[in-house]
Amino acid sequence: MSIAVYPGSFDPVTFGHLDIIQRGAKVFDHVIVAVLHNPNKNPLFTVEERIALIRDVIKNMPNVTVDSFHGLLVDYMRKMNANAIIKGLRAVSDFEYELQMASINRKLNDEVETFFMMTNNKYSFLSSSIVKEVAKYGAPVSDLVPDVVQVALRSKFRVT
Ligand code: PNS
Repeated sequence: MSIAVYPGSFDPVTFGHLDIIQRGAKVFDHVIVAVLHNPNKNPLFTVEERIALIRDVIKNMPNVTVDSFHGLLVDYMRKMNANAIIKGLRAVSDFEYELQMASINRKLNDEVETFFMMTNNKYSFLSSSIVKEVAKYGAPVSDLVPDVVQVALRSKFRVT
């Protein structure tokens, strides 16, 4: 059985992430969306809130689950018996960082393979940071995130 992990901050999950999850779920038997507990970042949503939002958007995807992890991704992969990492690439600017991450992950565990998927062109500009910036000033994000995330953003920024 092929188990893939799609790791990230997902602060919050966007249509760009969702596109990768849906396409990844067609290729791998099981996709685990894994939210990193990152003490170095100052997130808008708690890990629990991010998991709840992801759980809502994957509710009709039988082979996708959501979880969180601390520490190194390769250690989490071992624990979950997973051997594939899924990453979305939006533009050339993502490439250098992702190459570095894929290389270090392979060095740490050469059983793990990273699979890159080109983000749908519709979402090539999209990131969680951009979404938060737009939502903070009350502009619509309905084309960028699922409804449940839009509601959560409104409530965080107290926009009506
Ligand atoms: O959505 P993001 O913030 O770009 O996701 C980054 C993530 C979570 C994929 C990356 O930071 C990660 O894998 N962190 C876990 C720590 C790790 O294994 N680092 C690589 C070896 S130093």
